[in-house]
Amino acid sequence: MPAYRTVADAHLGSNDFWIEPLDRRNEAFVALREESKHGDGMCFHEELSVIEGGIAGPGFWSAVTYDDIKEVNRKADLFSSAGGITLGEQPPETLEFFGSMIVMDNPRHAKFRMLVQKGFTPKTVAAIEESVKTRAKRLVVAAREKAAGGEPIDFVESFAAPLPLQIICDMLGVPEEDEQQIFDWTNIILGAGDPDFTLDLDGLIVGASGMFDYAQQLGEDRLRTPTDDIASVLMHAEVDGERLTPAEFGSFFILLAVAGNETTRNAISWGMHQLTKHPDQRELLRNNFDEMSLTAADEIVRWASPVIHMRRKANEDVTVGNTTIAAGEKVVMWYWSGNRDEDVFADGHRFDITRPNTKDMEGYGAGGPHFCLGANLARREIQVMYDEIFRELPDLEITGEPDRLVSGFINGIKRMPCEFSV
Ligand code: HEM
Repeated sequence: MPAYRTVADAHLGSNDFWIEPLDRRNEAFVALREESKHGDGMCFHEELSVIEGGIAGPGFWSAVTYDDIKEVNRKADLFSSAGGITLGEQPPETLEFFGSMIVMDNPRHAKFRMLVQKGFTPKTVAAIEESVKTRAKRLVVAAREKAAGGEPIDFVESFAAPLPLQIICDMLGVPEEDEQQIFDWTNIILGAGDPDFTLDLDGLIVGASGMFDYAQQLGEDRLRTPTDDIASVLMHAEVDGERLTPAEFGSFFILLAVAGNETTRNAISWGMHQLTKHPDQRELLRNNFDEMSLTAADEIVRWASPVIHMRRKANEDVTVGNTTIAAGEKVVMWYWSGNRDEDVFADGHRFDITRPNTKDMEGYGAGGPHFCLGANLARREIQVMYDEIFRELPDLEITGEPDRLVSGFINGIKRMPCEFSV
């Protein structure tokens, strides 16, 4: 394959680009950052619909440097989230399902965010810590039993996927017997464009509307019989003196379930993949877990960048660096690239839990008003899962290449085999 000597090869708007090996992806973003810093500025990319029946939009500017991403992310008055945060256009049929606070601007965004913020503070996360630990322990026991019975173990299925799923379902008040259904719906929503999930708009609508209807039923139930879960808080909350409509609650539920589930899973998976590839770092972490696990969790999120991008639209003509984005044009913040910017992270494609400045990474956003609400929770889930694995299954190793999700939005792993002594 030819090297990415020019940015013309990097078709970021097409899934053909996203199925390439990660080293190739890295080369492309090196070239794009070079062009952005020392060439003509940001590149404008053509956009293709990644699902049949979707809409190919007019194209987008690519913010690829650490600084440009920060600027776009923080200037939320100039760069709007309304209308969608993934690079493609939102088909009108799906607006209702995905219309929650992540696609709102202030002042409405701040009001909605306040409703759930309390559920994610360090204090509340500490309160659910025990539940995270209990769940992680159970997963380890179940995997050991399965392996003892001679069954092959898939790391994603046995460890990385169920922990975040169970925690967010607990928080939302979803009963255990419905967890698998929530998992399947979130996979369809973020896996649209991957042949294992759905390749067309109809499939996406089936998944999203299934979850939307489920959420509304759960919401009605909590309206009648409140408990201490987030669904009850949201159903009884008021914005501008009015209760949330069923549709507002439904899309809120979808956001929390999808965001809480699909992201941390991939961080845990990529982390174990990299720790297996770098046994020296794994030993270092294992032997100094208390001191190093927080930085390691952040290095994993920096390196993996489970959310590859978020998109905005300019409210007026704005100049970022030497690029002018015209009113109404889209700009995509490539967090995956900001997290590898050579001016900030030396040899950024290298996984290194001893990096001095990992905490500055942009994996959870870049400091703007939409900064990840679940960052504290995700960090704890990652730490607790590895703590449990290192203590109970100390020789667990990834034994095959990851089967990657076809997506330019989520840096996902669908399956990845592992082995350990029982
Ligand atoms: C490693 C795991 C995670 C990563 C990498 C991640 C990443 C992100 C990113 C990049 C954003 C957008 C930030 C921006 O554009 O400024 C975001 C927003 C968000 N995340 Fe996370 N996230 C993770 C885990 C979670 C978890 C566990 C939850 C829990 C429900 C969560 C809930 C949210 C919500 C609700 C938003 C929207 C916030 C808003 O619009 O104000 N995330 N996340």
